[in-house]
Amino acid sequence: MSAAAQHPMVPRPFNVRAIRRESYDTFTLELQSEQAGEFGFAPGQFNMLYVFGVGEVPISISGDPTRPKKLVHTTREVGAVTRAMRRCKPGGALGVRGPFGSHWPVESVTGADLVIVAGGIGLAPLRPALYHVLANRKRYGNVFLLYGTRTPADILFQKQLQQWQNDAKLPVYITVDRAAGDWRGSVGVVTTLIPRVPFEARNAAAFICGPEVMMRFTARELQRRGIEPQNIHISMERNMKCAVGFCGHCQLGPTFICKDGPVFTWAQMEPLMRVREM
Ligand SMILES: Cc1cc2nc3c(=O)[nH]c(=O)nc-3n(C[C@H](O)[C@H](O)[C@H](O)COP(=O)(O)OP(=O)(O)OC[C@H]3O[C@@H](n4cnc5c(N)ncnc54)[C@H](O)[C@@H]3O)c2cc1C
Ligand code: FES
Repeated sequence: MSAAAQHPMVPRPFNVRAIRRESYDTFTLELQSEQAGEFGFAPGQFNMLYVFGVGEVPISISGDPTRPKKLVHTTREVGAVTRAMRRCKPGGALGVRGPFGSHWPVESVTGADLVIVAGGIGLAPLRPALYHVLANRKRYGNVFLLYGTRTPADILFQKQLQQWQNDAKLPVYITVDRAAGDWRGSVGVVTTLIPRVPFEARNAAAFICGPEVMMRFTARELQRRGIEPQNIHISMERNMKCAVGFCGHCQLGPTFICKDGPVFTWAQMEPLMRVREM
């Protein structure tokens, strides 16, 4: 059954194929469904995941868009629903609605240098864009990943980042807010990495995902370096209920994050994020 044939408010049953711990508070779920078959999506889109009897939350798809049989989400445990999700066992059931929302514009930025900036769990919604870009590497200019986390223990997908770095596929710059253990890398917020990255600002685009304050400072810094606001893309988070533009829970000024976003340009979001009440 195709996603398009399904009513957007009706969750489809999926089974947990595997659950993997990524860090002390973050885990990755692999889902599959005999009934739904392949699950096509664009990098940056999200699903509403329903833990039966507990509740439904928006979670971005973190898997490889060229492997639509495996539906992958990476989630940080923060409250009731995400805690219940972490307790799921292989074979257990979850409801899935989606995919919803806009996506990282991976096609329209071909030919340009690409600066991808992640903060914490923000690396998860960016990972499908990284898979796409690395699978089509020749179509892009220089590509850089800048990643900031609170501590070294919060770094996600460590083996994969190391692999990409070792294979010279992707220069990865990592910084942590607080060093711990045998950390010998950078310490400081993610914006401190920007001056070290040799991109050609006049022909560059950026994808940013992380806490709102991090995205604001990062977008401003990249703009100061010369990237045009319409070439800077950020992914917004707001509380959601319906995910299809009915309920207004996710409204930000005149926009609905669920259907107009979550990916917006900095040119679109900067004026709204300047308003305190929003
Ligand atoms: C479009 C979109 C995509 C998202 N993608 C992801 C994703 O890929 N992975 C992921 O882990 N989360 C993602 N989120 C956030 C996720 O939806 C929330 O963490 C989840 O709804 C929390 O539900 P809960 O019932 O577990 O916690 P709640 O009971 O709703 O919240 C528990 C506590 O945590 C706080 N909290 C809620 N959300 C967050 C947050 N994001 N960060 C820090 N504290 C928070 C609340 O304010 C509250 O104090 C996304 C959100 C949106 C809107
Ligand atoms: S979540 Fe209902 S309008 Fe966006």
